[in-house]
Amino acid sequence: MEAIQTVIRVQNIRYDKAEEALYIIDQTKLPGEEREIRLRTVEEMEEAIRALRVRGAPAIGICAAYCLYVLARSIDAPESGAFLEQFRALAQRIGNARPTAVNLSWAVRAMVETAEAHRDEPRAALLEALYEKAADIHRDDIEKCTKISEYGLTLVKDGDGILTHCNAGPLATSRYGTALGPILLGTERGMTFHVFSDETRPLLQGTRLTSYELQRAGVDVTLICDNMASIVMKNGWVQACFVGCDRVAANGDTANKIGTSGVAILAKHYGIPFYVLGPTSTIDMACPDGDHIPIEQRDPQEIKTMWYEKPMALPEVKCYNPAFDVTDHSLITAIVTEQGICRPPYTESLAALFEKKP
Ligand code: MRU
Repeated sequence: MEAIQTVIRVQNIRYDKAEEALYIIDQTKLPGEEREIRLRTVEEMEEAIRALRVRGAPAIGICAAYCLYVLARSIDAPESGAFLEQFRALAQRIGNARPTAVNLSWAVRAMVETAEAHRDEPRAALLEALYEKAADIHRDDIEKCTKISEYGLTLVKDGDGILTHCNAGPLATSRYGTALGPILLGTERGMTFHVFSDETRPLLQGTRLTSYELQRAGVDVTLICDNMASIVMKNGWVQACFVGCDRVAANGDTANKIGTSGVAILAKHYGIPFYVLGPTSTIDMACPDGDHIPIEQRDPQEIKTMWYEKPMALPEVKCYNPAFDVTDHSLITAIVTEQGICRPPYTESLAALFEKKP
């Protein structure tokens, strides 16, 4: 129990209001080092998001919101028109730091709308509104993760084996996380799960972050290479797959960390339910299907050299390094949000989440 508390209280993003300073845990240093870094400039912020010092769709959104508050404080503009112009330009830079996770543009848009709504107020009131919006996005995510965890927990039973890919735990969000949420919540309530964590090539989020979070929480976690998912499923050790998401299209197609769609295809083959867990801020109803989701391409050195003492391929060898892939909606058993569990047809069940309630 104490272990779980340590993990869920991890402050991956921390705004110190007294000091007016934004800190993140540098996730590239985990699990070896738990180091906080302070983000002050737009260059540092863009770099932190691009280099995955802060990562995971909801966490990127939360961080971006605080970044824009910090940047707004440094804008020196005589009147509101000039302020807004500079604020929008900064927002565009932060919003473009990574393309796939829709939470980033969602949070940036919310901050710009807040600035626009308070444009005629004194500077102190405008800044306060921006701080409150960022803190709201943060608080809201904690609440959403808690609800997602509760709903997700209804899909598994004590003793189940669960396979997960990448990292969708507290480091990627806030509090319990999304895909790891039901596991942490169930463990807190005395349940036992046997979790298989895919290492998640090339950036090893499963190795460095998921196995770290689960081990520290006292969960029975077994680390496997990505190409071992099939054998653990065939052995009958997996009763459910839980993954997070970076963008869910209106038809249920889901972008998540590269390799996720392969896990879904295997799960279908072995008759194992495949669940996507994420907040409604990750659902992009303006995006009709997976073909419209922009996929981030990353540096080939992540594959060839990054983790090795010596290069593992000739320098002239070509590399293809997409950071995400799209899992077809037909492979997804259910999408778990803070508002409940959506089942196929997703065009209907997802749309219902956004219908105005009387
Ligand atoms: O490139 P990353 O590490 O930011 O990718 C993260 C993922 O793909 C996560 O599974 C996703 O963002 C969900 S986080 C709750």
